[in-house]
Amino acid sequence: MALAELMQEYKFCVETALEYWLPPITIQPTHLHRAMRYAVLGDGKRIRPMLVYITGQSLGVETAALNGPACAVEFIHAYSLIHDDLPAMDNDDLRRGRPTCHKAFDEATAILAGDALQALAFHVLSHDHHITVDAQQRLAMIDALAQASGSRGMAGGQAIDLAAVGRDLNIAELENMHIHKTGALIHASVKLGALSLPRVSKDWLDHLEHYANCIGLAFQIHDDILDVEGDTATLGKPQGSDIAQNKPTYPNLLGLNGAKQAARDLHEQALNSLNALGKRADPLRWIADYIVERDK
Ligand code: IPE
Ligand code: IPE
Ligand code: MG
Ligand code: MG
Ligand code: MG
Repeated sequence: MALAELMQEYKFCVETALEYWLPPITIQPTHLHRAMRYAVLGDGKRIRPMLVYITGQSLGVETAALNGPACAVEFIHAYSLIHDDLPAMDNDDLRRGRPTCHKAFDEATAILAGDALQALAFHVLSHDHHITVDAQQRLAMIDALAQASGSRGMAGGQAIDLAAVGRDLNIAELENMHIHKTGALIHASVKLGALSLPRVSKDWLDHLEHYANCIGLAFQIHDDILDVEGDTATLGKPQGSDIAQNKPTYPNLLGLNGAKQAARDLHEQALNSLNALGKRADPLRWIADYIVERDK
């Protein structure tokens, strides 16, 4: 099955599961529940859920056991986007092709929707009965997502990003920022897929984690490139936002060609780290290609 078909299939799986776990708008507080659903059920690429499914599948895990982890990471991601767009952060008005959550609702509701989605992610990982691993490994999954989301992961990366506005970062500092703000959740997506297999081997986990680190950084470098080369209608978010806000980015530091080369190098390293894993890892190879070729 080619990547496009796989992506369609898994998009359907995760969106069905997201709908299942999100609170309905018929229960109180309805305004908050509406905002949570608005932010999550918009037109996202669902790359992180895709990585959970494809990693799990390459290890032989059933889809039913992967829906919960896929939802959990997408809830954290959706929360991070709501907060990323707030006036106190990137102050953007467009997300996934429609007004950002704080524009469609209000700032306080957007903040709370993010908070609630973060809590919901951990509720899903703790409660989903389809997760087949034992309690100890489930705790490892919860911990992987917690570490990736917190001050040593995504939230920490966002703090570095805000502190860096208007400053010149060197390449090591920029890499560190990207690894945290974006790489951490991508790493967690692969790790959750792998940890969905009872008794996953340490060897496989090491290869997969190295792969995840490479594509995680490549993903944000390509996002920076799209801020320069993409167009707003396709992206569904404002092209030029980084430039307007004087954000440190890869194209800014290395030029467009330098940034593209950096993404290509990481792509190659990602593929190398799958060498030992054989044909079953092909979808992981395809998604690595997609990450550095996509136009949105
Ligand atoms: C956007 O992520 C934020 C970054 C980490 C660059 P995505 O590009 O995955 O956004 P959606 O989920 O498809 O909207
Ligand atoms: C966002 O980075 C990273 C997180 C949301 C954690 P960006 O600020 O570059 O993401 P976009 O470009 O707004 O999607
Ligand atoms: Mg940002
Ligand atoms: Mg942003
Ligand atoms: Mg960006």
